[in-house]
Amino acid sequence: MNSEKWMWMTVSLLLTALIAAIVVVGIKEGASASQGTADATQSSGAANETSSGAPGTPGDEGSPTPQVQEPKIDLNNIPEGPYGDAVKEGLKLMNETNTLLPDYVGNKLSCSSCHGNGGLDGTSPYVGVAAAFPQYISRSGKVLTLEDRINGCMLRSMNGKAIPYNSDEMRAMVSYLTYISEGVPVGTKDRPWIQKNRVEAYKNMPEPPSLVEAEALYQQACAACHGQDGQGTGPMSGPALWGPDSFNLGAGMARIGTAAGYIKRNMPIGQMGGIQQGELTDEQATMLAAYILSHDRPDFPGKVNDWPNGDAPDDAAYLTKIDLEQGLTLDNVPWYKAYAERAVEAAKKAK
Ligand code: HEC
Ligand code: HEC
Repeated sequence: MNSEKWMWMTVSLLLTALIAAIVVVGIKEGASASQGTADATQSSGAANETSSGAPGTPGDEGSPTPQVQEPKIDLNNIPEGPYGDAVKEGLKLMNETNTLLPDYVGNKLSCSSCHGNGGLDGTSPYVGVAAAFPQYISRSGKVLTLEDRINGCMLRSMNGKAIPYNSDEMRAMVSYLTYISEGVPVGTKDRPWIQKNRVEAYKNMPEPPSLVEAEALYQQACAACHGQDGQGTGPMSGPALWGPDSFNLGAGMARIGTAAGYIKRNMPIGQMGGIQQGELTDEQATMLAAYILSHDRPDFPGKVNDWPNGDAPDDAAYLTKIDLEQGLTLDNVPWYKAYAERAVEAAKKAK
């Protein structure tokens, strides 16, 4: 064999090996891409109170993810018998939480103060939620069950105590949430009918919005139901937005982008002060969220332990242990990070 032949043989062998390697890597990539889809969907679910809530990536070309249908829920058709009774009790607990559970709720809100109409209307819906848990929640850095998630809102949004897992109240709440999830396949993380309450206009604002302008808008479009002083007129007519009877610093609503998203989509209810529901701009909703969160509210002990893996969102309402370890302070972060914590700290100093 002459040296030229040798060279060609070597080159073609190398080429064959290279092609084989590309094919193997290609197959592996394909497999992990479909897994990646599952992961992405999951983390968008886990994003609930923790990030921008980007929608899950679509399935890879070969196998499009089937669209899950939104179940039609009929509260007039709750079955008779013990299961139906638990479902009905659960619904009642959602709507009258503060009056029915005074030992556990620490403010004047009900679950339906944020999850309107038992979580069935568009405000902050939980249709299908029982199919989406257990789920990894980055704020806790662990997989939470539905009961854990309910208690997350009990401790923070309701400024209260955990409902015991082995209690009729918890069983009733889980029964209700399961009833309004019937027909949604277990393991569904991405529910197309759930829209996250997020407005991220704050990211483009170098300075905090003017609170003077915000207060005028609040008095015009919000105060009639929520009170001039934000103390509310009732959990179902206009819940407390700040002060001792509102959600605490640890709640998802204490994040400016979440509050702005909620306000833009849902408030004012109907029409108020010449402003129709759905008419507020992103900037107005952000301004109102900033105004609401510029007031004092209950603190949340243990908040520094949230997002233990250092993946707190940029509008987290407070600094975490990891932030502090990295040298972040209330003075050297963008205005929208720990915005609500600054208000609570200022109120503590003023006392
Ligand atoms: C002050 C407002 C507020 C109140 C009151 C409140 N929540 Fe929530 N809740 C939220 C926010 C914000 C989220 C995150 C939703 C999102 O990602 O858009 C949430 C999420 C949830 C979830 C997870 C939903 C999902 O699709 O992953 C459950 C379950 C839940 N809440 C149950 C409750 C229950 C039960 C109560 C009453 C005990 C309650 N919440 C009271 C604001 C509130
Ligand atoms: C016509 C009465 C009405 C008006 C006006 C109104 N709200 Fe509400 N708001 C409610 C009710 C009732 C709820 C409870 C949720 C539901 O039923 O949908 C609520 C819930 C809320 C919540 C979540 C619960 C909480 O305590 O944090 C926020 C935030 C909020 N409103 C902000 C606003 C802002 C900002 C405006 C002005 C743009 C406004 N609302 C105008 C009646 C009203």
